[in-house]
Amino acid sequence: MSERFKVPRGTFDVLPEQQPVRERIQAVSRRRLEAAGYGHIDTPIFEDTDLFARGVGESTDIVQKQMFTFEDQGGRSLTLRPEATASVCRAYLEHGMQKLAQPVKLWMDGSFFRHERPQAGRYRQFTQVDAEAIGSDSPLIDAEMILLASDILIELGVEGVRLRLGSLGTPAARAAYLDELRDYLRSHEGRLSDDVRSRLDVNPLRAFDADHPGTREVMADAPTLLDRLDPEDAEHFADVRALLDRNGVAYDLDPTLVRGLDYYTRTVFEFDCESLGAQSGIGGGGRYDGLIEQLGGPPTPGCGWALGVDRIALALADGAARGPEEPRQGVFVVAGDDRRDAALALVTELRRAGIPADLDLAGRGTKGQMKQADRIGAHYALILSEEAKATLRDMDSGEERQVDPATLVETLSSP
Ligand code: HAM
Repeated sequence: MSERFKVPRGTFDVLPEQQPVRERIQAVSRRRLEAAGYGHIDTPIFEDTDLFARGVGESTDIVQKQMFTFEDQGGRSLTLRPEATASVCRAYLEHGMQKLAQPVKLWMDGSFFRHERPQAGRYRQFTQVDAEAIGSDSPLIDAEMILLASDILIELGVEGVRLRLGSLGTPAARAAYLDELRDYLRSHEGRLSDDVRSRLDVNPLRAFDADHPGTREVMADAPTLLDRLDPEDAEHFADVRALLDRNGVAYDLDPTLVRGLDYYTRTVFEFDCESLGAQSGIGGGGRYDGLIEQLGGPPTPGCGWALGVDRIALALADGAARGPEEPRQGVFVVAGDDRRDAALALVTELRRAGIPADLDLAGRGTKGQMKQADRIGAHYALILSEEAKATLRDMDSGEERQVDPATLVETLSSP
């Protein structure tokens, strides 16, 4: 016997019973974003590799290790999109959206691809809902964005959510700060863990996450980037915080919050869900005031986020927070062997009238068909007997009445 196929590592099938929670995440996000003036955009699943190399950043793990890159028949290098922001900014420029009233607010959802080490909550194909507002540097946008994401998570009923907030300032202020931090760490090298010491040049910020007691003592007095922001960036951040406070959004200041993408400037944020363990990030984003220029456009500020649909679905399936149970609906037509043609005709008529309807396709006896009607959650079973006669059974109450199959659509449509 030949070997059976399985899904590629790090990917998964979404089965029908797993769809409702995902559909709810997408529907709630869509409704809230569209009500806030965000227009729906779709961009291609693959783009020129250079778009992501330049947009996401050459030095990021995403570009260095995680992209699914391939050459097409014409020798062009293409990449399955690892995220949406670079693509949305490309579309903004390609369609001259800088001529529209600013900011241009766009949202999308779909599959994204990163060659990461698979584990629970971390996949090589995953789903995001993404929102971007391009063309305004007002702190109102940062606050609106965070409020929208927060309200979506609240409406969905995700429990144990924590919002971490930071500001990265400008690239120049960040570089100067990192130099200062390196010097500070070097001056206390003897008290640091080996691990922190060996990464001091590459990633001095790691030192803030260390458990090592000596390192923790050193870090308690270390300078933070928030203390070193340029005055305009500090003011912008203070404004964003005041707006969040005013709108009742709780957050933890995280001066060491760094995101895995290079384009961020000023505000950055991440939503974590404590029940998810190692892969607890259920969404994140921030401002990217240099990205459009990086992609060849005029200086244009932007701000956005992406929510991780797969992880939110895991969080909702784990906790008590589920959507309301689906009510029974539609009709299951029960028929003996000699009435199966009539059953299909009747089911078709009901479906055309917009009434969910189904019939037995497995040669079950009458009893088996009644069980099936119950199993699929039909509101009614219609038992076809003679030509102009049928019994309509309410599957909730067990109540039965005689009906004429020829007028069933009217019978069911009238209250
Ligand atoms: P990100 O933090 O890389 O940001 O991804 C956002 C969310 O996508 C994460 O919080 C996580 O829930 C989900 N996610 C990311 N990678 C995986 C994976 N391998 N498996 C499952 N879920 C995953 C961005 O992608 C930015 N483009 C967000 C943004 C928009 N910033 C500005 N605008």
